[in-house]
Amino acid sequence: MSYRVCVVCLGNICRSPMAEVVLRKTLGDHGLGDLVSVDSAGTGGWHQGHPMDERASATLAEHGYDGSAHRARRFLPAWFDEVDLVLAMDTENLRALRRLAPAGADVRLMRSFDPAAPQDAEVPDPFYGDREDFAEVLEMVKAASEGLAKHLAATLR
Ligand code: 4NP
Repeated sequence: MSYRVCVVCLGNICRSPMAEVVLRKTLGDHGLGDLVSVDSAGTGGWHQGHPMDERASATLAEHGYDGSAHRARRFLPAWFDEVDLVLAMDTENLRALRRLAPAGADVRLMRSFDPAAPQDAEVPDPFYGDREDFAEVLEMVKAASEGLAKHLAATLR
């Protein structure tokens, strides 16, 4: 395991845990499972220790992913020393992370790795939304994960 990615949203119970599970699977499909590790966190700590939102884990399960092991964590500034790439879900998360980040830290929007997404595209917060919004989150993180896996396959090997 040489390259570490951390996916970050606000609460670490909806978007980033979905992205973590999907990205890990996608990297495995690209033969990068032993080269890249993935985890996730939230910029806020209200849900620390909680499992994924039921709508998030149900959406994952409908598409063959298992989100049952997740427990929410808050992103700690010290993790910048241990992580190679920090992926924010939206611009608010990005700003919060950049305030904590040391110079030279690689912090980007996750959807910047989706070649079909517009510039500065976000994964919108589905917490106050419905199952449709969670389905959209899944599609967005799948597309971005595919793009990131291709990028890492080209740069890490
Ligand atoms: P997430 O969604 O950032 O995708 O995990 C949210 C979860 C909880 C809250 C907001 C967004 N909240 O306000 O508690």
